[in-house]
Parts: sequence; C-alpha cells; structure tokens
Amino acid sequence: MDLSQLWMPFTANRQYKAAPRLLVSAQGMYYRTETGREILDGTAGLWCVNAGHARPSIVAAIQRQAAQLDYAPLFQMGHPLAFEAAGRVASLMPPGLDRIFFANSGSEAVDSALKIALAYHRARGEGQRTHFIGRERGYHGVGFGGISVGGIAGNRKAFSGALLPHVDHLPHTLDLAQMAFSRGQPGWGAHLADDLERIVALHDPSSIAAVVVEPLAGSTGVLVPPKGYLERLRALCDRHGILLVFDEVITAFGRLGAATAAEYFNIRPDLITMAKAINNAAVPMGAVAVRREVHDTVIDAAAAGAIELFHGYTYSAHPLAAAAAIATLDLYRDEGLFARAAMLAPALEQSVHALRGAPHVQDIRNLGMVAAVELAPRPGAPGARGYETFLRCFELGVLVRYTGDVLAFSPPLIIDAGQIAQLFATVAQALRTVP
Ligand SMILES: Cc1ncc(COP(=O)(O)O)c(C=O)c1O
Repeated sequence: MDLSQLWMPFTANRQYKAAPRLLVSAQGMYYRTETGREILDGTAGLWCVNAGHARPSIVAAIQRQAAQLDYAPLFQMGHPLAFEAAGRVASLMPPGLDRIFFANSGSEAVDSALKIALAYHRARGEGQRTHFIGRERGYHGVGFGGISVGGIAGNRKAFSGALLPHVDHLPHTLDLAQMAFSRGQPGWGAHLADDLERIVALHDPSSIAAVVVEPLAGSTGVLVPPKGYLERLRALCDRHGILLVFDEVITAFGRLGAATAAEYFNIRPDLITMAKAINNAAVPMGAVAVRREVHDTVIDAAAAGAIELFHGYTYSAHPLAAAAAIATLDLYRDEGLFARAAMLAPALEQSVHALRGAPHVQDIRNLGMVAAVELAPRPGAPGARGYETFLRCFELGVLVRYTGDVLAFSPPLIIDAGQIAQLFATVAQALRTVP
C-alpha cells in the first residue's frame, strides 16, 4: 500500500509511515489490526466511542437512514431527525440549555459557540464585548477560534500571526508540587480562578464576551479541576456579565458518570460545546447547547423574516449523523451507561493509582472514566517515554493515548473490571521495559 499520499493529522508522518499501525475493524471493546491482533481500546478511539464499537443498533440506524434520506439541507429546509436529535440532546443538558445548534466536529462546535457569544452581546446592544478568555493548556480544536482561545503552544506556534485578536488566558491548574497523586478533584487550586478578576480588570469587564474552558482538560494530558475552581469562574462571569462556555467535547455523554460535566459539577454554563460521543463517533457530528435566553436574544433581535444568525454548515445535523445520535442516546439510556461509568470510576481510580511507584511515574490523576499517568521526561528527549510506552502497550495489545509524556486513558463505558485490570497491568508491564 502506498502511504505517501495521505497527509496524516497530528501525526509524525515520516515516523509513522516507516512503521505503520493499521486498524481494520472493531467490535465492542476491541480493535483488530491488519495482522489480526486484538487491541483493547483504552481510549474509546479519541475519547469518543463511549458505547463501544460497531454497536448493532447504531449501525442499523445509519444503514436505514442512508437508504431513506441520504442528505437534506438544513438551510431554510429541514428533516425530522434533525429536530428529534436536537430534542434528545437538549433533554440531556442542564435545565435551560435547550437550544441546540449542530456542527460536524468539536472544532466547529467551538467556532459556533464563539460566534453565538458575539452575536448575543451584539443583539443586546453590547457589541463592544469582543474579547475571549481561554486558559493555558486548553484544547478547543483546530479552527482559528479554537487555537486562539486554546492554550497549547505547539498548536499555535506556526499560526501565531493569524490568531484572533483580543484573547487572553487564565493560568492552567496543574501544580505537581501541590497536587501530585490526587484522587479525583485536587483540594488545592480554587484560587487560580481568581486570576479571571485580574484579567477582566485589565481589559475592562465591558469588553469581554466569554470565558471558554474545558471543565476537565483532556487533550493536554487530563487536568482535573480543583475543588471550588469552576464555581469561582461561574461567580466571576456572573458578576461581570460574561458568558461561560464549557467545552465538553470530551466530557459530555457520560465520561464523568453524568450526562455532562456541568451536571457532574452542578454548575450551569451558558453554552456547552459537544461532539465525539454525541453519536458514538459513528458519523461526524458536533453541537452547541445554548441557554434559552441567549438564543432568544439573538432570534428576537432580527426583523421578522430575516435570518437571525449568519452561520451554519452544509452538513449541520446530517441525516446519518442525526440517526446515529438518536440510536446512540437510546443505547446510553437503555444500558444506563452514564450510571455504569459512575459505578466503574472507583475501579479505574484504584487500578490507575496502583501504578504509583512504577518506573518514571511522577503523577497520576483521575476523575470519572478518565485517568492519566504523567511520566518524568527522559533528559534531553521530552515525549520519548510517552511515545515508547504507547508503542509498547500497542505491541502488548492495548491502545492508550499519549500527549508528550502523559499517558491518558478514557475507555468505552462498557469496559468491565477485568478489562480495566488488563489495561493497567499492560501499562505497568510496558513501563518496566521503557528506559
Ligand atoms: C475539548 C475539545 N474541544 C474541541 C475538540 C476538537 O474536536 P474535533 O477534533 O472534533 O474538531 C476536542 C478534540 O479532542 C476537544 O477535546
């Protein structure tokens, strides 16, 4: 097979193509490679296959929909599944966040949320609110909006001349000296939210449209919010008329043992971005849940018969994605998968923290069905240990994710106790062989 034509995303292309790893099928908790090896999926793909792979009811819903209505526009037209999917998603959001805008990815959901925030302030006569506040180490996808509010230096570097203007960042919340090996939410760090007050004062509160954070930062290597931190962000946003956007592309649909992180932490943001597990990643789909008053303000500001928001995608609520979403949300409900995640979280916590003392391990963190193990970087070769551990685990039949020297775990919510044990026993075995 000629691998040269495909420019692979977020991949060391030359390194990968010198020794490719191919997945050719998947079922339940397992991938299968081109050589027929079974690989336990410790990451739910990219944090997205929450119900496990190739679930028959989702497959059937997509097949049925492809035969019945392959595509229909959502601009000045509609199809029933788009409305049904919006209703089903809305019913899982915190009370009041029941207006749903569909996109096709997390990145598009984030861009949509930023635009909705600007449109809202303009509609209420505060069009000068154009600043966004993100957070260091935040990941909000790869659109220009997302990398601007995002705080992952590598994702911004090559594009730094073209980022959105008027963006500032909160400090990230990881301090190993204070919180290493915390189980669940660290007790230290709520005060880091108070930096928002300083940043807001610097730019003037009247200039700020929204604060955008992942309630639990995933892609940067799993940063669990300190106890009380998100509450303080909410209070400061309220004080200054700033919208709070939770980017729940990873956390929505059960990852923490509740429908959303907002529900888990009992904090109501104004907008929630989501994607990934919305339809078990079977067809690309993203969405923004919008507080009704924000939606109504934008809608009511436009003249009758006028388009209220000049924004949308050809594939917004694509019929196949919508069909997959409805079937997925049925499955989550029928199998009680959010509650199952909550039930399994203590086993995940116990197994991952059992790696304390394994070679190179300098921190372990976890919440719900997410966990991470941070390795000390090899002197002069940051990231090498993370990559080699990932490779070794793959050879041993387990898929883990790595970001630099952080190993991340986010298995499908159908995982069982034996598979959790296998996952971390494999990581322990791999760590013993990585120099
Ligand atoms: C919090 C968050 N936001 C946005 C995204 C971007 O999603 P996508 O890759 O679907 O554009 C991700 C992807 O991992 C994410 O974790």
